[in-house]
Amino acid sequence: MLDTTALNQQRNFFEGHADIWLFGYGSLIWKADFAYIERRPAYIHGWERRFWQGSHDHRGTPEAPGRVATLIQAKDSICYGMAYRITPEVLAPLDVREKNGYLREKVPLTFLDENGGATEQSEGLIYLASEDNPAFLGEAPLADIAQQIASAHGPSGPNKEYLLNLATALRELGARDAHIFDLEQQLSRF
Ligand code: BEZ
Repeated sequence: MLDTTALNQQRNFFEGHADIWLFGYGSLIWKADFAYIERRPAYIHGWERRFWQGSHDHRGTPEAPGRVATLIQAKDSICYGMAYRITPEVLAPLDVREKNGYLREKVPLTFLDENGGATEQSEGLIYLASEDNPAFLGEAPLADIAQQIASAHGPSGPNKEYLLNLATALRELGARDAHIFDLEQQLSRF
């Protein structure tokens, strides 16, 4: 397993900043087990969420990996999530938690108002698992992804809990995401 912890500690895109906007598009939307100053619904433009990253350490095992969210580039798309304003020391434990292939990247964020309309922008940080990381599983038929998620379990719990919590959190945000909602529907078959 590639451990990205040390690589991420070199990726100091916000060096000298007192606070940083961290954009959550996966488990961070519904599981913010870190201190934050404030949080705001937001989106990033040019990205789509996919269950294409293998999880050997949280929602699966090395023998039977689960699948968790990453992002792929998609020119005209929008990915909704939750932005957290954090102090820089919050990142070190997240680097450890997300060490299985995720790298910090800097992206522009757009915040949403209470009616879901776009408001101001800011630079933010995401954790991205790109296709060149060893845990990347990539595309597969939706039914196969759902079946893998239905059967995988890891130290953080059942893989299906991750998907169902994410779908619920996106619905609460009023966010559209066909990949996630189609997968949720497929999961109900298993
Ligand atoms: C997130 O929820 O944004 C997230 C996804 C994968 C790794 C780290 C964070």
